[in-house]
Amino acid sequence: MPYSKIAGLGHHVPEQIITNDYLSSLMETNNEWIIERTGIKERRWFNPEKDTVANMAAKASRMALERAGLKEKDVEFIVFATITSDYYFPGSGVLLQRELGLEGIGALDIKNACSGFIYALSIADQFIKSGMYKTVLVVGAEIQSSALDVTTRGRNTAVIFGDGAGAAVLTATNKQGILSTHLHADGRFAEELYVKDPGSSRPREERQADQILDTTGFKVVMNGNQVFKHAVVRFMEVINEALHANNLTKEDINLLVPHQANLRISQYIQEKLSLREDQVYNNIMRYGNTTAASIPIALSEAWAEGKLKENDLLCLAAFGSGFTWASALIRWQ
Ligand code: COA
Repeated sequence: MPYSKIAGLGHHVPEQIITNDYLSSLMETNNEWIIERTGIKERRWFNPEKDTVANMAAKASRMALERAGLKEKDVEFIVFATITSDYYFPGSGVLLQRELGLEGIGALDIKNACSGFIYALSIADQFIKSGMYKTVLVVGAEIQSSALDVTTRGRNTAVIFGDGAGAAVLTATNKQGILSTHLHADGRFAEELYVKDPGSSRPREERQADQILDTTGFKVVMNGNQVFKHAVVRFMEVINEALHANNLTKEDINLLVPHQANLRISQYIQEKLSLREDQVYNNIMRYGNTTAASIPIALSEAWAEGKLKENDLLCLAAFGSGFTWASALIRWQ
């Protein structure tokens, strides 16, 4: 049976840097509060003149392919994780396929929020293991700034989320690269972190009104406390599940790349796993929480900084809207 490995990683973030001080000019917040509660110093916001989810994804994908020594035409299938697709439908997978000139190959969209990249990775891994494909492009990309309420009313989410894209090329190998993936969800908590519109459950009269008078449903709603409490429990659970399934222990982990939800959550996991600071990769300080893009951006930067070495045990873990949570253990090749 073939296995899969990550053969190349890439990322792209918009140029526009949004500092905490700039946010303080839009709403009642301040640099100290944001850093203390989240660890975030700045994030990127897209430029509507030039950035789209699909074209940022294409830039990240080309970087990943180049680093893997592959060409666009080598890609056989695309798995695209995003909750902020350029259109309501179709998903951004087909738009990325078009950007890369890969007409004809399949493109699948995944909408599992912050866990989306690991869900996408898992699907690509299964396709490769089954022998159906040998080279799969796995992408996480988001433009979230357009859905943020940047007034004081939305300050608990406006300071957290950012825009960006990351990509990984998965290829078939005969040595085990991706050891396992574990995926979970609990829909009882769907409304703890969500964007309601354009939801089909809204009555036709409201959806089709010439002017939508109430746009609240288009903004991100988050119960920060609930999310935090569940996140710290589920992150640990799903990491331990992965270690247990592979007869490994926390001492075997060389590098943990958690979804960049909040620096305090990453620090909590680091402490629980008794990892050193250099064993947990964090870049939330510079990009905020980029949802499905956060893990591939972090992975791409970690790789570029030489933090991923042959035979290292890499652990990925995520938690987010749904609630969904997931982990992956990877023996780096
Ligand atoms: N600036 C200043 N004050 C703010 C603020 C901001 N950006 N956002 C909220 N506040 C205020 C609140 O209004 C509240 O004021 P009050 O006490 O007068 O009512 C106070 O700060 C505390 O709010 P609370 O929501 O209890 O703060 P918190 O310590 O839970 O931190 C989050 C808020 C959002 C940073 C935190 O809950 C969190 O990080 N949760 C997890 C979020 C996450 O990871 N989401 C992504 C999941 S993938």
